[in-house]
Amino acid sequence: MLITRPFDSAALKLHPFSCGEPELDTWLARYARQSEKKDNVRTTLLLDEEQGRIAGYYSMRTFELSAADGASATGRSRRYPVPAMLIARLAVDRDYQGHGAGRLLLFDALQKLLAAADHVGFEIVVVHALHEYAACFYLKHGFRRFLDHDLSLFLTTGDLRATFAAPDPD
Ligand SMILES: CC(C)(COP(=O)(O)OP(=O)(O)OC[C@H]1O[C@@H](n2cnc3c(N)ncnc32)[C@H](O)[C@@H]1OP(=O)(O)O)[C@@H](O)C(=O)NCCC(=O)NCCS
Repeated sequence: MLITRPFDSAALKLHPFSCGEPELDTWLARYARQSEKKDNVRTTLLLDEEQGRIAGYYSMRTFELSAADGASATGRSRRYPVPAMLIARLAVDRDYQGHGAGRLLLFDALQKLLAAADHVGFEIVVVHALHEYAACFYLKHGFRRFLDHDLSLFLTTGDLRATFAAPDPD
C-alpha cells in the first residue's frame, strides 16, 4: 500500500529513487534534506511501506509572479504581484509509474494547498513542467498553460475549491 508521509531523511537510505529524470532524483537524494531544514521547501514522500521504498515525492513552496508575468500568464491585467504557491517538483519512481501514483501525489498536494488556502492568501498554484510530457500530465488534471509559456501551468485557488471542496450539505 502506498501512503503519503512528511519528508524523513531516513527514507533516503531505502532503495534508490529513480524516476527517469536525473535532476529530480539528485534533488531528492542530495538537497531535499537541507531544503526541509531551512524551511524553504516542504517535501512529501509517497512510501511503499511493504517494499521499503520511496514510490514518489512532491515538494512545494511559496511563489510570486510579477504583475507583468501574472497578466501575461492569466490574460488579466494586474497592478500588483500575484501571490502563488509552487509545486516545485513531483516525481514517481519508474517502477511505480502508470498505476495512479502520480495522480495520488498531485491530489494530495492540491488537497493540502486547498487546506492552506483557508489560512494563507494565494491566487494561483503554479508548476513549471520539465517537458511536454509532464505538461500533458498537469493539463489532464485541470491545469491551464500560461499564455506566454507552454511549460508553465497554473490552477486558480477558485479552481482548487471547485474541484476539491466538499459539497455544501444544504
Ligand atoms: C509525470 C508522472 C508524474 C506521471 O505519474 P504516473 O504515476 O505515471 O501517472 P498516473 O498513473 O498517476 O496517471 C494518472 C492519469 O494521468 C494520465 N497520465 C499520466 N501521465 C500523463 C501524461 N504525461 N500526459 C497525459 N496523461 C497522463 C494517466 O493516463 C492516468 O489517466 P487515466 O486514469 O485516465 O488513465 C511520472 O511519469 C513521472 O514521475 N515522470 C518522471 C518525472 C517527471 O517528469 N515529473 C514531472 C516533472 S515537472
